[in-house]
Amino acid sequence: MTTILDGKLVAAKLKEELTAEVKTFTESTSIVPGLATVLVGENPASQIYVKNKIKTAQKCGIKSTHHQIDETISEEDLLSLVDSLNKDKNVHGILVQLPLPSHISEEKIINAINSKKDVDGFHPENMGRLLAGYDALMPCTPSGVMEIFKHYKIELKGKDVLIIGRSNIVGKPQAIMILKEHATVTLAHSRTIDLSAKAKAADIIIAAVGKAKMVKKDWVKEGAVVVDVGMNRDENGKLCGDVDFEGVKEKAAFITPVPGGVGPMTITMLMKNTLKAARQLLNEK
Ligand code: GUN
Repeated sequence: MTTILDGKLVAAKLKEELTAEVKTFTESTSIVPGLATVLVGENPASQIYVKNKIKTAQKCGIKSTHHQIDETISEEDLLSLVDSLNKDKNVHGILVQLPLPSHISEEKIINAINSKKDVDGFHPENMGRLLAGYDALMPCTPSGVMEIFKHYKIELKGKDVLIIGRSNIVGKPQAIMILKEHATVTLAHSRTIDLSAKAKAADIIIAAVGKAKMVKKDWVKEGAVVVDVGMNRDENGKLCGDVDFEGVKEKAAFITPVPGGVGPMTITMLMKNTLKAARQLLNEK
């Protein structure tokens, strides 16, 4: 029997809890957690992502303010905007949607965000804190995957976990989070030799490479847990993940669908980070 890991359901439960927490926080402090979203240009995928973030914030009682910026903005002007958001006491979380146009350094922009408002968890200070095992604002997608494991009581201790993809946004932070739970982590990537053999040996596979249906049925051990972070289009233009869901679900004990798996968790974790940032900024005063 295969259990479908229903990210939509877990996200709905977490959002309900979070909405209540935001309400209590606002009533006791008179502070409404504020999330500033910044979108440079009109990348259609980014537009959808940001729109969903704004909508979810509103539903959770978080005040979002959106900054839609022309793609010709200079790096200097974008840095000025980040600086003004850093100083704005009504803004507790800052999200600059990536990718940015090629004339702007993503590194410079991420570094310019006050790390205490870095609800994406992309700032090197937060990355370093995560690595060191300190409390931190942590990247939303890998945090969302951890919440799915928690909800479905999937034990990580002692397990062999294969993560495919070594991005700063997913693979690297995911590896650290899973290591903390006492699993043995293999962080694979495009130059990994004999990936399918490594996949076959894994108790848990997390695919975050951005290659449609790359993880096949014969890569997966009977009874494995398969988490799909991918978001791609297949040959017919249909949304699909990095895992060949139809084939793999015949062997996996647990599997996330795309859509409705990890995706809904990412936005939920962003809202949790915004409340966390608001709390921490208040405690600093
Ligand atoms: N682009 C794709 N995913 C993300 C994300 O999680 N945060 C930001 N800021 N940009 C993204």
